[in-house]
Amino acid sequence: MRQKLVAGNWKMYGSRAMTRALVAGLAAEFADGAPCEIAVCPPFPFLEEACRAAGGTPVTVGAQDVSDRDEGAFTGQVSGAMLAEIGCRYAIVGHSERRSLNAEDDALVAAKFLAAQRHGLAPILCVGESLEEREADRTEEVVARQVRAVLAAAGIEAFARAVIAYEPIWAIGTGRTATPEQAQAVHAFIRGLLRAENANIADFVKVLYGGSVKAANAAEIFAMPDVDGGLVGGASLEVEGFASICRAAG
Ligand code: PGA
Repeated sequence: MRQKLVAGNWKMYGSRAMTRALVAGLAAEFADGAPCEIAVCPPFPFLEEACRAAGGTPVTVGAQDVSDRDEGAFTGQVSGAMLAEIGCRYAIVGHSERRSLNAEDDALVAAKFLAAQRHGLAPILCVGESLEEREADRTEEVVARQVRAVLAAAGIEAFARAVIAYEPIWAIGTGRTATPEQAQAVHAFIRGLLRAENANIADFVKVLYGGSVKAANAAEIFAMPDVDGGLVGGASLEVEGFASICRAAG
């Protein structure tokens, strides 16, 4: 049985005070035990504050991105070693906003996945199709390409230390969620891609759903057999709503 994970992707929102309050609020909500694994992914400047506030609580911390390089003259980039040193557990790689706004291609995403793991971070690999691709019946083709790029670079064993997030682009920040059945179909497809390489790892790896998850729809999505939690954007920015989503994963 896979333990569910609910991770909050704050994107470019938040402040130091909000970071402290949100992590403390979650810790207080789940002082008697968390219903699932819980992670918060604040912007880089607040990661250390989040790690400090999360210490000794069920909350873990992830970064929203990581450099594919380990060190060097790479202005503006942040290495996996730096994230690991301050106590991060996860790094999101390949979020659709970075793929589209920062022109990150499959090869770079795979390199970031590898870089995260070199430093002991678990990558949360985001994959997902655009509306145009879904309507052209190309969802499986796109998701397979995105997953296989990382499989080719990292090998199936690496997925034992990684998380996948299926995030249909048309559902991100739009209020339009995939139906539980649509999510389940793609999650099962992704697990099938891994199963073709190694059945044990395929059964072990968490596949999260992301895209307009909120308290009102989380339970029905998380109830699907291949959905192992969520990557939550907008609804992760306040304690009560995010805590309800975490409870829906219990
Ligand atoms: P959303 O974002 O929950 O605001 O749709 C999800 C994500 O981008 O990870």
